[in-house]
Amino acid sequence: MRDWGWLGILMMGIAGGVFAQEAEMTKLPIPQTEGGMPLMQALKQRHSTREFSPQAPPPQVLSDLLWAAAGVNRSATGQRTAPTARDWREIDVYVAMADGTYRFEPDSHALRRVLPRDIRALTGTQDFVAQAPVNLVYVANLDRMRDTTAEHQHLYSATDTGFIAQNVYLYCASAGLATVVRGSIDRETLATALGLGPSQRIILAQSVGYPLVGRR
Ligand SMILES: Cc1cc2nc3c(=O)[nH]c(=O)nc-3n(C[C@H](O)[C@H](O)[C@H](O)COP(=O)(O)O)c2cc1C
Repeated sequence: MRDWGWLGILMMGIAGGVFAQEAEMTKLPIPQTEGGMPLMQALKQRHSTREFSPQAPPPQVLSDLLWAAAGVNRSATGQRTAPTARDWREIDVYVAMADGTYRFEPDSHALRRVLPRDIRALTGTQDFVAQAPVNLVYVANLDRMRDTTAEHQHLYSATDTGFIAQNVYLYCASAGLATVVRGSIDRETLATALGLGPSQRIILAQSVGYPLVGRR
């Protein structure tokens, strides 16, 4: 278990030996869900950027980014900022950063560490992905898409990912961050690195960071 230094210690999922192997969890700061840029202005600003400053976003920005992407916006039901077909909530957001690789847990608004190492370079085939401080990887868990056809699993996991990616685009526009959604991924290599199972499919990735000075 770890914290952000200033956040304090939060014990999660540790109940003696039974859960000793449970992955390390990092509670994110409470997301700031007020303010931001007016929506029409954010839509005007939305664009793709492929050059990133190496500066990592601070924990509050990471928290707000992930909440915008797929956080819980109705605590009574656990439903999210992005819609999902039949409320399957099948897209997991993996977060590849310099200090390791995590999976966003919307219900607890926490990061679960899945790998202790930097696999940013494996999240896409373009050179800039290794420098972007945050690479989100959108992974569909087909086991959650019950009572449907394989065709609909493909269709809806792709559309549901699109909503998340657009939420990220709009948050980035509002927060002055740079981003680009990406389909150019060696999915087999990345799935192996992430330790994904047979029911998990990488749909897209999205790089996020600050723009290089003088660029947007
Ligand atoms: C499904 C999808 C896949 C994309 N894949 C890539 C990619 O692999 N690499 C990349 O640099 N941009 C990728 N893009 C970004 C597009 O190139 C970009 O949105 C387009 O050029 C329009 O630019 P704009 O986003 O600034 O409007 C992708 C966009 C979408 C929607």
